[in-house]
Amino acid sequence: MATKPIVVVTGGAGFIGSHTADRLVELGHRVVVLDDFRTGKRANLQRWLEPRHGFDGSDPALEIVTCDVSHGIFAALAPLTAKYGRVERIVHLAAQVSVVASVANPLVDMAVNYGGTLHVLEYARAMGVAKVAFASSAAVYGDVEAMPVGEDTPTRPVSPYGIDKLASELALDYYAAVHGVATTALRFFNVYGPRQDPASPYSGVISIFSDRAKAGKPLTIFGDGGQTRDFVYVGDVVRAIVAALGDGNSRLVANVGTGGEISVLELARTITELCGGKSTISHAPQRAGEILKSRARVDRLREQLGVVAETRLVDGLRATLG
Ligand code: NAD
Ligand code: UD1
Repeated sequence: MATKPIVVVTGGAGFIGSHTADRLVELGHRVVVLDDFRTGKRANLQRWLEPRHGFDGSDPALEIVTCDVSHGIFAALAPLTAKYGRVERIVHLAAQVSVVASVANPLVDMAVNYGGTLHVLEYARAMGVAKVAFASSAAVYGDVEAMPVGEDTPTRPVSPYGIDKLASELALDYYAAVHGVATTALRFFNVYGPRQDPASPYSGVISIFSDRAKAGKPLTIFGDGGQTRDFVYVGDVVRAIVAALGDGNSRLVANVGTGGEISVLELARTITELCGGKSTISHAPQRAGEILKSRARVDRLREQLGVVAETRLVDGLRATLG
């Protein structure tokens, strides 16, 4: 009997990656996670590491390989492809995710976020991978006046992170056009939900505010709080990733957001209120490389990928707060 082909999730021990791996295993795929655990956690995948989650009680449905994607992925995958056969599809999520960290250290950002993508694409080209789905970002747009922002809006990133995500998108398109590797890039807006790690000051704002508000600690807003974001729930993002991983839609670039926006000040007030209103709100200087407005145009997501991010912010916040 032929073994099930491999679906690789780079960055699969992280926030979005572990939710993606969950869904892919539930859909019956053989999942291989590549991660170097710089922010990801094995605990995020623990449920699949129990023996009862194997195929026919033998091979595990999910395996983890420790690997830094910026050093290449051939050697890491070789033992698994020898065992199970080729890699059929790749979800490429491994990245340095902080805009602020990219401003502080652009060379690391370039090596991981652009270099890592090139390594994944080189593997896909050499091994005949059927589809690569890539986590790009709203950061590729930079500061745009007119909202919502559509995919055809000129890209002018204002951070090394945004530049490296845009360079990765261009590389995806080049590999599709010249080498015939089918690729889809998803421009995630601000993703939130359970398992987003609040540990670093560079973590996603909802994870930080939720963590602090639950403990009744003060919240700090960078700038006046008038900056807006389109916060999209991780469950909706996973549906977009699964759709992008399917056949078709090669060379597609699609926003992944809700089409709505909320200011950071309003967000802070909402989370404080959901947690019983004990936290105070203070202000600190605006961050460098910061975009001031962000709201996705989502027609392409709906029309090409058949996905609508329908989770209401208040419901997603409740699920995140636990
Ligand atoms: P995360 O930090 O939880 O996940 C990133 C994962 O990649 C972690 O498990 C980390 O250990 C791993 N990783 C980092 N560098 C690596 C390397 N060199 N080799 C192997 N593994 C490495 O962050 P996330 O929010 O889940 O982000 C996932 C992807 O989505 C990233 O590409 C990020 O840029 C993109 N994205 C996220 C958001 C958001 O709002 N969270 C928005 C836009 C785009
Ligand atoms: C986020 C993602 C980035 C993604 C981009 C897409 C993270 C860490 N970053 O960047 O990967 O590509 O969305 O749009 O997930 N803020 C505060 N107080 C805090 C923390 C943050 O006021 O304690 C503010 C920030 O200044 C910013 C907003 O909240 O205005 C969102 O910040 P953050 O969650 O770090 O995300 P982005 O920079 O938008």
